[in-house]
Formats: sequence, C-alpha cells, structure tokens
Amino acid sequence: MLYSEELISEVIGANDIVDVIGMYTALKKSGRGFVGLCPFHSEKTPSFHVSPDKQLYHCFGCGEGGTVLTFVMKAENLDFVEGLKFLADRARIALPEPEANENADRLFKKKQRLISANTYAAKFFYHCLAASPEGAQARAYLKERAIAPKTAASFGLGFAPPGRNALINHLKPMGYSESELVDFGLATVRDNQFVDKFRNRVMFPIIDVRGNVIGFGGRVMDDSKPKYLNSPETAAFNKRLNLFALNFAKNKKSDTLILVEGYMDVISLHQVGINNAVATLGTALTEEQARLIARYARDVVLCYDTDEAGVKATMRAIEIFSKTDVRVKVLSLPGAKDPDEYIKSHGGGSEAFLQAVKGAVPATLFRINALKRQYDIDNSIDDKIRFITEAAQVLLSTNNMVEVDTYADLLAKNYDIKKESIYAEIRKLQGKRERQEKSRIVHRTANAGVTRSASPTEERRPAPVRGDVATPLEKAERSLLSLIFTSRSAAKYAEGELGAEYYSNAVHQKLAQLCYAAWDSGTAPDASQILLSFDETQAGYVTQVLMDRAVYEDDIQAAKDLLLTIRQESITKKISEETDPAVIQKLLELQAQLKEKRGGSPA
Ligand code: UTP
Ligand code: MN
Repeated sequence: MLYSEELISEVIGANDIVDVIGMYTALKKSGRGFVGLCPFHSEKTPSFHVSPDKQLYHCFGCGEGGTVLTFVMKAENLDFVEGLKFLADRARIALPEPEANENADRLFKKKQRLISANTYAAKFFYHCLAASPEGAQARAYLKERAIAPKTAASFGLGFAPPGRNALINHLKPMGYSESELVDFGLATVRDNQFVDKFRNRVMFPIIDVRGNVIGFGGRVMDDSKPKYLNSPETAAFNKRLNLFALNFAKNKKSDTLILVEGYMDVISLHQVGINNAVATLGTALTEEQARLIARYARDVVLCYDTDEAGVKATMRAIEIFSKTDVRVKVLSLPGAKDPDEYIKSHGGGSEAFLQAVKGAVPATLFRINALKRQYDIDNSIDDKIRFITEAAQVLLSTNNMVEVDTYADLLAKNYDIKKESIYAEIRKLQGKRERQEKSRIVHRTANAGVTRSASPTEERRPAPVRGDVATPLEKAERSLLSLIFTSRSAAKYAEGELGAEYYSNAVHQKLAQLCYAAWDSGTAPDASQILLSFDETQAGYVTQVLMDRAVYEDDIQAAKDLLLTIRQESITKKISEETDPAVIQKLLELQAQLKEKRGGSPA
C-alpha cells in the first residue's frame, strides 16, 4: 500500500462522514444516526443510513456502503489514491509525495524510533525529578501545588534540568543524533548550536491510548512565559487526535468523561480519585477529539476554566459535540478559576467537586441561560421577543424532540409565553432552514456536474447485496459480529466461546478476528481500519454487517443467545450436508440437547 495505514486512518478520521455526505444528500437525524435519499440510486423514500458513531454509511435499498473514503470514491468517481487526496485536501492534511512515501514501512520505523527516544527522555526526566539534586526545586514546586509524589509518579511527571544539553548528552550515547532529536521535538537549534528543547521545566509526558509517550508539556516554575511549552507536531504527536490522560480514563467503568482545560486540572482530579478526567493538549477541542471521546463515553461533563475564554470554549465544544452522540453537561465551579483551584480551596478532597458535578447543567439549558443574560427580558418586550426567537433556534439545533418539548415547556412557564408560540417559532425557523438546505444541494449538484463525467445517481447502480438471502446461520453470525464490534463485554465473552476460525465463512472469520484483536489490544475496533482489510467487493457487505443497529438490554446475554443459535444452526447445516446415517443420528442428539439448554424458548 502506498500510504501507511496510520495516515489513511488520520485522513478518514479528519473527515466527518455526516459532514461529507451532507454535501451530496440532505440528511435527517433519526435515532442515533441520519437518514436521507440515496445518492447512488433513485428512490422516493429514504433508505440511506449514516452512522456518526461508526462513521459508516449503508443504503438498505441498493446495498452501497462503506466509509467516508469509499463514499467519495463512488460519488466523485475516484480511485483509492485520488479519494484519499480529495479527503486530505478537504481536511487540509498534506499527503506526502507518493515517491517519498514508497515505503510507509520507513515512516512507521521512524515513528517507533521517535517513541523510543521519547520514552528514554521521559525516564530521564522522571529520574531527574525523583532523585537528582537539581530536581529539588521541582519537587518543592509540586509539593507547593499539593501534588503528592505518588501522583507525580503515576503520571510519570519529570523535570528537565536547567543546563543547555542535559538530555542531548543523555540520548547521544544511545545512538540518537542531534539533528534527529531536533526532528523528534526534543532539541532545538540556538545560535548555531543544538540545545535541549525543554530546560528547567516540570515535565508532563503525553501518552496515547496505546501507552506510547508521544510528546511532552513542560511548565515553568515561576511566572515566566510561555507557561507551558509543548512538543511540536511530530510523526508521533498530533494534537488534534489525542487527549491528555485518556490512557488512564479510558479503562474506567464510568460511561462519563470529564473534559477540563489543563494538565494540572486532570492531575488534581485523578489525585482525589476522579479518574475519568481528560484534557485537550493546549488547543481548542477538535472534532477528532470529540469523536475519540464518543468512542469511550456516552456522557461528557465540560468543566472549563471559569473565565470568559472558558465560557466561549464551552459554547464551541457543545457545538462540536452536537455532531456526535455524546450527551453534554456543563459544570460551572463558583469561586474558583479552574477545577484544580476548586479542589484545593474545598479541602483538597473529591466531595465538593462530586457534589458540584451533580448540579451540572444540560448543554441546552446552559445555552438558554447564557442567552438570557444577553437580554433584558423583564423590562423590554423587544428583548423578550428576541430572546424567544434565539432560544427557539437553540432548541431546533438540538435535533431532539424530547429536548424541544422539555425546554419549550420550561420557557413557557418561566417567561409567561404560550407554548404554541414557541412551537410556531420553531416551525418557522425549520422551514427557513429546509429551504436553505435545498438550495445548497441544488447548488452543489450543479457544481458537481462540471467536474464529473458520469453522475453516480443514474449511471452506477450496483447489484443489491445478499441481505435477505442469508441463511439463519449467517444471520445469527452477522448479529453477533455487529454486537462484538461495539460491545467489549460481548466480544470478550464470544471470544472464549467461538474462535474466529469457527465462523462459517472467510469474511465472517476475518471480521471476528479483527474485532477480537482490537478489544484484546484495549481499543474499540475501528470501522475504517477494518474495511481496509477487505477488498472492494466485500466492503459493502461488511459495512452492512457493522451497521446493524440492534440494541440489547444485556450485551452478554445477547451474545449467549446468539451463540446458542449459531451452534444450533451450524448443526442443522451439518445435518443437511452429511450422508452417513450414524453421524446424522449423533448430530440430531446434539441438537436435541441444545434445545433443552435453551429451555424450550423459541429460537
Ligand atoms: P492554563 O493556563 O489554564 O493552565 O492553561 P493550567 O493547567 O491551569 O496550569 P496551572 O494550573 O497554572 O499550572 C490550560 C492548558 O492550556 C495549555 C496547557 O495544556 C494548559 O494545561 N497551555 C497553557 C499551553 O499549552 N501553553 C501555555 O503557555 C499555557
Ligand atoms: Mn487553568
């Protein structure tokens, strides 16, 4: 393959499937996903589904399906490399020239080498903090900030000594050249000389979900600037794609993550046992980070700094999360500038903070409250009308009828307005929005016609996938596969019961193997990665399997039931293929036993 898998994933990850497909067909929110008219075949009722969670699309009418990459390949009539380039351009990611990239292998090796250098550096800093005489100042600093040595150790905190090239001198004998260390973001050139990038700073290693040290943040111990120095973007470090402390937070049972601004906020929270806190890496929240959070949590509590910038960032974060399924609440901490300070000023324990979390406000209410502060609704009719109009806009943007209803009620009660007027306002805005969208789509289609030789709408109508002709065994396996794709507990259970090699066909085997392997390595399976392992003829089918949207009350119980069905059906299949009466007899007995096990409940 011309480009590394990582780069391909990055490009795919940087393009939200709903955004991209939204340029070709109007999508409406429906349950956890979106539906619209299929751009690949003509239809009057929408059977084209897009899942923002899984970043996949599938048309139940014509069987087309895949990732955002397969989508643009089909929609724009591009080959793989062209499709990748299209998406990379859209996300402003520079693709290396194909020649320079001939061996993605080398890039991968470089990244490994960089991570090793970072790991050595982290150990060196760690040692300097824990045991060197120079580290005394840093130890005192952390003590003053009430970070216990145990906490510092668990985060791998360190100290970069004040000299010009302590780290360089430490790493050079290990075979790293100075220019290489510049490339790795660990050294810089000053006055024509190589010097350590981080000097006289408390060091915060940034570790990805796989446990790799991908970069550092370094804090001064006084008021000098910049307060934090961060590693530059390198082959291993992409600030858009990672979150501080997600490596710890991801394994916690809680379905909630707390998103804060600073490294110190995270560390303070973890220190008091609130270990589901994560932070962005010195930049505003990105769409990629929101999607990353969506993979590990159903709920997020935004707990940014209490200054004006923090409130702005909160608004922006709410907007970014609205493209995901994550439910957002906002936590404001009175009387403190950030969570770290709040904890320190409330006895240094978790109680006050946890109590405050209980009072976190749903994002919609937070937005409405913020609006209210902008208007003088008690004294000005004009202001009141404007407030209601804008509040209606907020409600409309939630795309959620339950929320609309709840808050319409609340507005009506609190501000003495008829609920019907609020709904009328919402309908008016909705009509306006739909008209705008229609004109946007017409516009796009007109433009697209210029650059494209054949319109996919009429020309390309692929054969339907074999959805309905699946045997009961295949159907049960497919349900199980879609379940183990999203459910860690079900995957763990199924792996012990049904090895990948025992699935009934090669595609199912491979899919099972990829899902099991992902969970074993501690991460949720990634749809785009999985699809890259299948050829084009299989990808549509695999997408359909992964898009199955059944939701079970109890994942493990669902896995058990499906496994039992699979066992029964595979025996039925064997019976139909077997010719030896003795073997058939045995199989029939086995089948009877299984039926009993199921307790007579219908299959
Ligand atoms: P803050 O200034 O709120 O930092 O910036 P903080 O974590 O509360 O730090 P303390 O408590 O003063 O030590 C929030 C985050 O913004 C990034 C860092 O990631 C920081 O944690 N930042 C801030 C920088 O990258 N560079 C800076 O100079 C300042
Ligand atoms: Mn802060």
